Amino acid sequence: MNSLPPGPKGSLIMGVMREFNRDTLGFIERLHREYGDVVRSRFLYVHAYFLYNPADIEALLTTNAKSFRKAQSLRSPFFRRLVGNGLVTSEGDFWRRQRRLAQPAFHRQRISSYGDIMVQYADRAIAKWRDGEHRDVAKDMTRLTLEIVVKTLFNSDVSNDADHVGATLSQIVKPFASQATLKWIADNRLPTPGHYRYFNAVREIDKIIYRIIAERRASGSDEGDLLSMLLQAQDEDGSQMSDAQLRDEVMTLFLAGHETTALALSWSWYLLATHPDAETKFHAELDEVLGGRAPQVSDLPKLKFTEMIAKETMRLYPPAYAVGREAIEDTEMGGYRVPRGTQLFAFQWVTHRDPRFFERPDEFLPERWASESIQTLPRYAYFPFGGGPRQCIGNYFAMMEVVLLLATIGQRFSFSLLNEHPVEVLPVLSLRPKNGIKVKLLQRAGN
Ligand code: HEM
Repeated sequence: MNSLPPGPKGSLIMGVMREFNRDTLGFIERLHREYGDVVRSRFLYVHAYFLYNPADIEALLTTNAKSFRKAQSLRSPFFRRLVGNGLVTSEGDFWRRQRRLAQPAFHRQRISSYGDIMVQYADRAIAKWRDGEHRDVAKDMTRLTLEIVVKTLFNSDVSNDADHVGATLSQIVKPFASQATLKWIADNRLPTPGHYRYFNAVREIDKIIYRIIAERRASGSDEGDLLSMLLQAQDEDGSQMSDAQLRDEVMTLFLAGHETTALALSWSWYLLATHPDAETKFHAELDEVLGGRAPQVSDLPKLKFTEMIAKETMRLYPPAYAVGREAIEDTEMGGYRVPRGTQLFAFQWVTHRDPRFFERPDEFLPERWASESIQTLPRYAYFPFGGGPRQCIGNYFAMMEVVLLLATIGQRFSFSLLNEHPVEVLPVLSLRPKNGIKVKLLQRAGN
């Protein structure tokens, strides 16, 4: 019988909970340094393995995926109230059916038709920006990507609600920032003021989502978008999705589809603002390929450096910094025994910066994505979108959006960081800049 992996003892009752919560990113890096590629730890009574080796991550997400389901953290009632049984959280046959239904809305060809909306919405947003103005570019990107996901997938406009929705969604994420791991385990329906605000905020967003669904049911029109597909989908017995089921899918895409993309953009602006050489190359590419006109989907193959910026940003600041699973049967991992019920996590944050796979791992070097050595990278040394059957359904959508928005905005403006606001990383549900990214806008000459 194989042995269990090494790992820290932690405290008698809490296990490693306190250290994990105090400095999540520092802690997961330290465990890798001290114990190696497979580490065992404990949160209260829950055992968790941390996987740092691409081969093991591949087994978790792809080759041995049938031995696992999504991690327990996604099943907390607290999180469930938010996303219900949508694509990110559902399992088994139900998930397979929903994924099959949603897939056509995310095919490359279909996604291409969203390009114009992305550019148009970005143009509209920056039309109000002025040279020298101070802004929080993270907030701007969040608002913009929210408007885009709602318009493209549900053909609905939330421009009037966008600030409200944005603010409400921030309320929702707040409780996850404190005592993060406790949320995985405890039932969080305790009536604290924070929870009260949380459930209120979820109700607020529900109202907007039910409005979008009701509008579409009333109009009865087939917009050819995701919402129409979900509305028309029928089981063999002819039954259709209830409003509550539709709500779960819409809420899931609301959340999964805009926050992550906004973060990829925000961290890109941050890295460009702090790396003038890369910024110069970026501007040169935009000037050469676009020469001042709006980008189109057909420009994407030529915006190579811009795409490398997006990839390199998601290497250093992966918006999803971890993926988690639970073993549904006794199995093994990296030669170690994995008892059923174990939670297993892989961390983009650590593996993307592993010097075994990336030279000068902590440096922002977009050019590395054109190098020869990148061709031999193990598949799961870089996995910003996860992998296997549960791979991000929106990966092309996201890459296209990031590149088109970088190009649209980067033609007109560059950003200089306001020093009095240092940018700190906050690993909540996703990897956020703690106090936003406060910048001064600089209008580019001739634009
Ligand atoms: C830079 C942007 C994005 C990043 C980094 C990202 C990352 C991820 C990751 C890592 C997963 C896998 C989670 C797991 O295996 O447990 C995932 C799943 C998912 N993502 Fe994304 N995502 C992004 C953008 C989007 C967009 C734009 C959409 C939709 C419009 C989207 C919708 C989803 C959905 C529905 C799933 C669940 C898929 C399934 O299990 O069938 N994501 N995403």
